[in-house]
Amino acid sequence: MTPRHTILLTGGLGYIGSHTAVALVEAGYRAVILDDLSNSERSVFDAICQICGDEHLEFIEGDVTDAACLKTVFEAHDFFGVIHFAAKKSVAESEADPLSYLHTNLSGLVELLRAMDTAGVYNLVFSSSATVYGDQEVFPIPETATRHAVNTYGYTKVASEEMLERVGTADDRWSFGVLRYFNPIGAHGSGLIGENPKGIPANLLPYIDRVATGELPELVVYGDDYDTPDGTGVRDYIHVMDLAEGHVQSLDAIDATGQGHVVNIGTGQGYSVLEVIKAYEAVSDIEIPFRIAPRRAGDVAVYCADASLARDVLGFQAKRDLFEMCRTNWAWTQKMAEAKTA
Ligand code: NAD
Ligand code: UD1
Repeated sequence: MTPRHTILLTGGLGYIGSHTAVALVEAGYRAVILDDLSNSERSVFDAICQICGDEHLEFIEGDVTDAACLKTVFEAHDFFGVIHFAAKKSVAESEADPLSYLHTNLSGLVELLRAMDTAGVYNLVFSSSATVYGDQEVFPIPETATRHAVNTYGYTKVASEEMLERVGTADDRWSFGVLRYFNPIGAHGSGLIGENPKGIPANLLPYIDRVATGELPELVVYGDDYDTPDGTGVRDYIHVMDLAEGHVQSLDAIDATGQGHVVNIGTGQGYSVLEVIKAYEAVSDIEIPFRIAPRRAGDVAVYCADASLARDVLGFQAKRDLFEMCRTNWAWTQKMAEAKTA
């Protein structure tokens, strides 16, 4: 079958990009992945091909901050649009090494936009984050809530969104689909791709995975004195395949209307840390030992999307529940553990 369009995925071998590559190919697109492998492995490309065939997939190793590399990539392809995942994403690291975050996340975006402009490609879906809402406690959070950065990583997302607005205002050929992800978790149902953070994970689900396999002794729950039903933090977890399909819907909407959008991508439903532990235990049949510790600096009690705009503008609605998120996370974790011992 001839693909509908060819899409460039920067950072497409990472956690969200790899799942989106699968969703794109399954929706009839051709996906060209550009990744410098700074936070992923080449084997992820083989896994993506195993899931959806290699006919409409291509991998190029390269750096999105490298103008010469981008020029070559754009000259060799006829892209309908780009999904820009490539970025650094650790809050703690962004505080310790702000310059490298400003370089990758902001210079990378500028170089990409320049290369797109030169090539006459004006459709971009951008990986933004709920972190642009900072630490405000408005729930659920609508897209109209004010943006404010509480760390350098967050600053790069706020600044990226502002840059896109300025570029779009100056030239109306641009269409930007800005997707503000809430908390993506889970893995592809095949167990062949998923999240695989290097070192000790900072985020909840990857940490629980390591406790479930016995690599880490217990989960540390950061605070049980929040103003939430059980006192632990509540987040809007979204299955990564729902999120991946949201990117396809974003591109489809740009294709159909020629208009951009700025939308939250969440479920609109929050779960506490203790609820996540219970769901994980139910699907894995493994007890997750935990202890309560003081609150983590920078955390808020509840972070939940108002998901109505994405539904209205993109027709987006998450389909997979918390058990499916935990089940697929656990299946992927088991496959990785098996591969390590093989
Ligand atoms: P990830 O680290 O798994 O994937 C990012 C990919 O980009 C990696 O494969 C990495 O090798 C690649 N990359 C990094 N710098 C690059 C460069 N200069 N040139 C080319 N490739 C480069 O991260 P992810 O979780 O898949 O996140 C993807 C995007 O979504 C990021 O922009 C991130 O900020 C954003 N986001 C993620 C989350 C989350 O919870 N995972 C939440 C909100 C927003
Ligand atoms: C964190 C980042 C956020 C980033 C997001 C996705 C901080 C303060 N926030 O969000 O900027 O966009 O990841 O990468 O780092 N928890 C525990 N024990 C753990 C880990 C987490 O109890 O070991 C709790 C947290 O307190 C929180 C919930 O689990 O209530 C989810 O935490 P996490 O997965 O780190 O996501 P966020 O805090 O939402």
